[in-house]
Amino acid sequence: MNNLNGKTAVVTGAASGIGLALAKHAAAQGMNVVMADIDETALSNAAADLNVPADRLLTVPTDVRHASAIKHLADASYAKFGAVHLLFNNAGVALARTTWEHTADDWQWVLQVNLMSVVHGISEFLPRMQAQGGAAHVVNTASVAGFVSYPGMAAYNVSKHGVVTLSETLHTELQLTQSPVQVHLLCPAWGPTGIGNAQRNRPADVAQTVLPTEGLSAQLNKRIGKAIASGQLTADDMATATFDALRENRFYIIPHRNINTAIEERAQNILQQRNPEMPR
Ligand SMILES: NC(=O)c1ccc[n+]([C@@H]2O[C@H](COP(=O)([O-])OP(=O)(O)OC[C@H]3O[C@@H](n4cnc5c(N)ncnc54)[C@H](O)[C@@H]3O)[C@@H](O)[C@H]2O)c1
Repeated sequence: MNNLNGKTAVVTGAASGIGLALAKHAAAQGMNVVMADIDETALSNAAADLNVPADRLLTVPTDVRHASAIKHLADASYAKFGAVHLLFNNAGVALARTTWEHTADDWQWVLQVNLMSVVHGISEFLPRMQAQGGAAHVVNTASVAGFVSYPGMAAYNVSKHGVVTLSETLHTELQLTQSPVQVHLLCPAWGPTGIGNAQRNRPADVAQTVLPTEGLSAQLNKRIGKAIASGQLTADDMATATFDALRENRFYIIPHRNINTAIEERAQNILQQRNPEMPR
């Protein structure tokens, strides 16, 4: 899709990081922008930051874990703008601790925000995007953690592997039905956003637990926090890579090209039936 002017983008997790950068890029191309996030204060600040006239902007406080909330987001988007041309299923959260120290609430929170929100986004938006006629795109934010398995991130890795295979499945189905809608898969590596402090927006119904201050969980948490903070690409770089891929009709969007080594090593380990190792 080349000319985005006057078309409509919906972004979940739009109040911070990559989502905010995607919203800014969409606005800069003359698009109407629908911004959704669970953090209402950050959402209204981010919307003000976008500097878009009110008739081109809609903010919808949304907890993406719930199908009913995503349905409301779709209803509100179509009521105001009549069509959705770009849907960014982007909201996500992370935590770091050993697999055996993830609580049931940790699993529920991460899988609902990172994976089930994408399922709900597809169920609620895709039929409407197909019916509206003309080209449209869905961009699902997974992660390099959808291709490799970093220690300390079991729930996150499972959720992102889920988004990868969900998106690949959908891609082929859309091809088989010659759909006007295309799906894309954004897989960043580390980037300095708010994700290292994702628990700031963890709802009360999935209780927080205290991370151990010593032992492997503490070490992994520190290491992952450091990797996020020192990530080489900014959220803006990732949004630029995403809009480039949209123009090229490219499915895989992997902004950090140096991660190819880790992906290749994992694939070779599987093919040669070697044991998994720490991704590089
Ligand atoms: N930053 C990285 O290193 C990195 C790497 C790979 C993938 N990603 C992915 O990028 C996406 C965006 O993350 P980010 O790095 O910009 O982090 P971020 O914390 O800056 O932004 C995430 C946004 O999602 C929102 N959110 C959290 N729970 C929500 C919920 N239940 N409903 C609605 N919104 C909710 C947060 O309020 C926040 O505004 C995520 O899917 C993340 O997994 C990030």
